[in-house]
Amino acid sequence: MCGIVAAVTRYNIINILLEGIKKLEYRGYDSSGLAVVDHKNNIIRIRCVGKVNELIKEVNKKKISGHIGMAHTRWATHGKISKENTHPHISSNIIVVHNGVINNNSILRVFLKKQGYIFYSDTDTEVIAHLLHWEQNKKKDSLQQTIRKSIKKLHGNYSMVVIDKNNPFQLIAARSGSPLVIGLGEEGNFIASDQIALLHITKRFVYLEEGDVAIVKKKEINIFNRKNFKIERKVTISNLQYKSAKKGKYSHYMEKEIYEQPISIRNTLKHYLKENNSIYFPELESKEKNIFYHAEHIQIVACGTSYNAALVSKYWFESLANIPCDVEIASEFSSRKLAVRKKSFLITLSQSGETADTLSALRYAKKLGYLGNLTICNMEGSSLVKESDFHILTQAGIEIGVASTKSFTTQLTVLLMLVAKIADFKKKYFISKKIIHSLSTLPSQIEKILKKNELIKTIANKLSNKKNILFLGRGEYYPIAIEGALKIKEIAYIHAEAYPAGELKHGPLALIDENMTVIIIAPKNLLLEKIQNNIKEICLRGGLIYVFSDQDFDCEDNVHIIKLPKVQELIAPIFYIIPLQLLAYYIALSKGKNIDQPRHLAKSVTVE
Ligand code: AGP
Repeated sequence: MCGIVAAVTRYNIINILLEGIKKLEYRGYDSSGLAVVDHKNNIIRIRCVGKVNELIKEVNKKKISGHIGMAHTRWATHGKISKENTHPHISSNIIVVHNGVINNNSILRVFLKKQGYIFYSDTDTEVIAHLLHWEQNKKKDSLQQTIRKSIKKLHGNYSMVVIDKNNPFQLIAARSGSPLVIGLGEEGNFIASDQIALLHITKRFVYLEEGDVAIVKKKEINIFNRKNFKIERKVTISNLQYKSAKKGKYSHYMEKEIYEQPISIRNTLKHYLKENNSIYFPELESKEKNIFYHAEHIQIVACGTSYNAALVSKYWFESLANIPCDVEIASEFSSRKLAVRKKSFLITLSQSGETADTLSALRYAKKLGYLGNLTICNMEGSSLVKESDFHILTQAGIEIGVASTKSFTTQLTVLLMLVAKIADFKKKYFISKKIIHSLSTLPSQIEKILKKNELIKTIANKLSNKKNILFLGRGEYYPIAIEGALKIKEIAYIHAEAYPAGELKHGPLALIDENMTVIIIAPKNLLLEKIQNNIKEICLRGGLIYVFSDQDFDCEDNVHIIKLPKVQELIAPIFYIIPLQLLAYYIALSKGKNIDQPRHLAKSVTVE
């Protein structure tokens, strides 16, 4: 987690660092810091606990300047949230910011203490700073050689940027575990954890690969691969719009991202639909027949919201494309001995493409004999995209709110298109036709439901003081219930749990009394009668029920129906998450919570 920005230019870099680090706040927001080498060759460091705005205030008070420097926003892993533990860390002339976890930091700390180093923090990053200093002074090597030697001693992940104040003309970056991108400018160059941080200054990027060490100067960059060979990495021109990272008329990024869903789904459809309405996934087109024609099983691996999207797609893969599909949480997948099914194809799903658990799962799976692997991801150039055989990019645009919304619905859109593509291979053309037609109606249906925001707000106000909420759904609405519960947990801090409605009588029914709120997702389908019985069971026991449905129910006082428009059954799961996202948003809003940056969380979870 954590975000890094660094710059070396002809002009003062303070605003570049501050603006950049503000944009990376989604990666961690416990504390932030900045260090520059000023014109008198002094290291000026400012660090603050709390949001990046605290750092901005502090830096502006001090009126500092410099042509080379770095900034960091922290999501604590080693050491509590405190000023001492905030990056950058310094060891004499060496300044370091770091993203990752050094597993052997305790051993190194003991060793470095014996060499006389004094530690001012509990972080593993200060260990790196002292180690670099110790290595450098042992042989008077160049900083690049010093870093090469030092990283051999580090176990874990250590994406970092280093400045040596005795040579304040270069930044050195080393990538391991977490992404680092170099931004190419006219009068200087930059490094960041994510291109978002640099979009206001450049569109030209060079992505570092695992094991790379880069020397970044004002007018020149040199990259060395893990074998220490000088290497050219491709320059990518970013299509991302800087304006899409701004809140505009909305109060929160999450609100904006919920309302952007019709457009992000339209963009995703437009991107992959040809004029004759057939689906075209450019990355797969030449080889897709080989992969999906021969696949007899699909294994999907993901975390959090992406995992929930995968769960929905399992119903689609099996019922529409008749291909068995299993879904597993990435951290579980990679931590056990697996029996790989015959002719199984692996799909990873991720908004960021940097989730450490999902990346580890992919790396593990590559050793296991899957037919191949594909990632469905929102971030071009991300590690998952780079390391996968194939990729399909969702066209959600930048998602900043920690709680995923538009990435979920665009993932589902792509997954349903993939199901249609497989149905085509199996000559079930009527299925793919039906899917494409249904998907084309989805954006306008979502627009309708978004207009019901006032109704959802009223319900949210009634639920904001609840301590527990139970979410129920059947079939593909069970994962939708899980996702609804996750949204409430992460931004409204209400304990919310999801169950398949059929499981109610096997345990959770014991929780029902007049203090328990139950949210039920119950569109008209073959399971509706069964879910009506569940509603009665809860009703009899006094639970307070909110049913999201396109049906009218004959019900008691404690049952409230939120009547939604009828939509085509194929796309209904995607549609039903929208009111639940709004519900979570409005509950969190009425509780005055920090919606875009909920406590203890970060957007991109780059540590296992
Ligand atoms: C969702 O609201 C969460 N912020 C989180 O569960 C997220 O979906 C998870 O960390 C996976 O992230 P990814 O999609 O970027 O891999």
